[in-house]
Amino acid sequence: MNLKQKYGQRALVAGASEGIGAAFSHHLAAEGMDLVLISRGREKLDLLAASLRNTYPVEVDCIYADLSERDVAIKIKEQVKELDIDLLVYNAALSFIGAFEKNSIEEQEQLAQTNMITPMNMMKLFGEPMLKKGKGAVILMASLAGFQGSGFLSAYGASKAFNRVLAEGLWYEWKSRGVDVIACCAGATSTPNFIDTKPEKASPFAPKVQAPEEVVSECLKVLGKKPSFISGRGNRIASFFMQKIMPRKMAIMIMGDTTRKMYRI
Ligand SMILES: NC(=O)c1ccc[n+]([C@@H]2O[C@H](COP(=O)([O-])OP(=O)(O)OC[C@H]3O[C@@H](n4cnc5c(N)ncnc54)[C@H](OP(=O)(O)O)[C@@H]3O)[C@@H](O)[C@H]2O)c1
Repeated sequence: MNLKQKYGQRALVAGASEGIGAAFSHHLAAEGMDLVLISRGREKLDLLAASLRNTYPVEVDCIYADLSERDVAIKIKEQVKELDIDLLVYNAALSFIGAFEKNSIEEQEQLAQTNMITPMNMMKLFGEPMLKKGKGAVILMASLAGFQGSGFLSAYGASKAFNRVLAEGLWYEWKSRGVDVIACCAGATSTPNFIDTKPEKASPFAPKVQAPEEVVSECLKVLGKKPSFISGRGNRIASFFMQKIMPRKMAIMIMGDTTRKMYRI
């Protein structure tokens, strides 16, 4: 059974125009699902939508919206109106690399809105009809940075922990009602956003950087089977040592030291 047969006709990808979001969009369209794609910028999103329509026999709608705005989830729900959303991917995130105190209160609130409040509101607004129908799926993008305190990514890491814990809780609440929920915990992934940060290799033992397509195909394989998962074998091994073998303090030190080295802080 493919994703369309299992969940339904249409998926919504929030943060779709590039990187992991674009890879999700391609994969879902290849499975025959119609799409609603969201990003702020029009140009890249329109190009992606055109390429998907040319490649696959699917309908693609675009919504240009800023997921950091208050009440944006309600506005998006109003815009899609009669279209049933059967699979929701919340991919967009805001991250600040560097000292926590350098960001303004407004910037921190923008991060909280984009990374926590909007995905939580979208889960409620789009999850309710899925529960009524007794089928559907939600994927929240989380990160290895959310498994312990992640110095110089502190607020971002905390927001990714929120997504993992939210998805895991709703996996339990919704699994008996036909709705699959998963937190996709990625490690370093070669998205335009990641490449723009110009990261340096922090250690010869650092796990391999994954391609967005690898993260997406691993995630869609385990959707419905697990409440959360870590993509990439190297990331799973690193996480095993950091979470199961090392004292928590050591895991936090390694994470902070790695980010310091990667970003020359
Ligand atoms: N890349 C990594 O190494 C990595 C590692 C672990 C976890 N993750 C997680 O994977 C997800 C994707 O990361 P990414 O690196 O691909 O980059 P990203 O910047 O989080 O996502 C890029 C996509 O989201 C859209 N977007 C960003 N902010 C938005 C906003 N406020 N409103 C609407 N759309 C917005 C962008 O388009 P516009 O700019 O046009 O809006 C673009 O389409 C994130 O949740 C991230 O936490 C990434």
